[in-house]
Amino acid sequence: MQKILVARPIFPDVIERLQRYFDVDWNQGDVLSAQELKRRLADKDGALTAGDPIGADVLAAAPRLRVVSNMAVGYNNFDMAAFNAANVLGTNTPDVLNESTADFGWALMMAAARRIAESEHWLRAGKWQKWSYDGFLGSDLHGSTLGVIGMGRIGQALARRARGFNMQVLYHNRSRVAPEIEAELNAEYVSKQDLLRRADHVVLVLPYTKENHHTIGTAELALMKPTATLTNIARGGIVDDAALVEALRAKRIAAAGLDVYEGEPNLNPDLLTVPNVVLTPHIASATEATRRAMANLAADNLIAALGEGPRAGQPPNPINAEVIGRARA
Ligand code: DGY
Repeated sequence: MQKILVARPIFPDVIERLQRYFDVDWNQGDVLSAQELKRRLADKDGALTAGDPIGADVLAAAPRLRVVSNMAVGYNNFDMAAFNAANVLGTNTPDVLNESTADFGWALMMAAARRIAESEHWLRAGKWQKWSYDGFLGSDLHGSTLGVIGMGRIGQALARRARGFNMQVLYHNRSRVAPEIEAELNAEYVSKQDLLRRADHVVLVLPYTKENHHTIGTAELALMKPTATLTNIARGGIVDDAALVEALRAKRIAAAGLDVYEGEPNLNPDLLTVPNVVLTPHIASATEATRRAMANLAADNLIAALGEGPRAGQPPNPINAEVIGRARA
């Protein structure tokens, strides 16, 4: 039987599925240190990860490893150049999380615009004495302009929801989406600067790459309207969190909603002191149904990539399909 490591706690029934095909080493405890990850991968043929960093050093310590299946659509934790050099396949879990993540983007954006978390904290602190005409005034979503940076599948699902709020949709992306998608979403392709100047609510849905590091920093925040909100459901590092803290404190923008952070789970402590930001712990895809779908898809990828199950040899979501069938280097 081939051996695999499941590096994180996941649904026990998904582990049972994997046990039908593999000898499973399941880490049910804390996140594995790099050293522990290397030690446990030393005799493994495959691994299921969820954000665990896999670089050249980890692959070198795991000479039998042929596939790493990430339970996430984002795979910035994989050094894909190292995967390609070692002929190791990486897989991810796209699509199954689009709608839940888009729902959550709206939840955060609305919470930021309508000051839901801020007012709830105030209420819980026992400060509510009377109704007042100017208590927690926010900004409208309906009839406003949404700016989506990153118009992939999740960005499109997010923009589709804007119709119900009668919003104008601006987007920026590496490349324009197909004309029929622009027409369906009634979305206008604009430069990043134009989007930041014109949007009332900016949402980030782009993958993290070196090029996207600090896509939003001091200069970009300065372009935004003082009444605007910024929501990040993409990845930490896309926003310069320190610059955002300054902008929020100085009311250079009205509010922000963040689900992801530079260096998470250790976030910039200043964020905790700023009232006009809604903070959630990387849960945009966290519904029971979606997380189950992600875990099962990650298992499907691993089973197929290691030549087992009904799709043997044809994993549904290869990132670097070109290495399939090549001997491990
Ligand atoms: C993803 O799928 O990339 C989500 O952010 C969960 O990590």
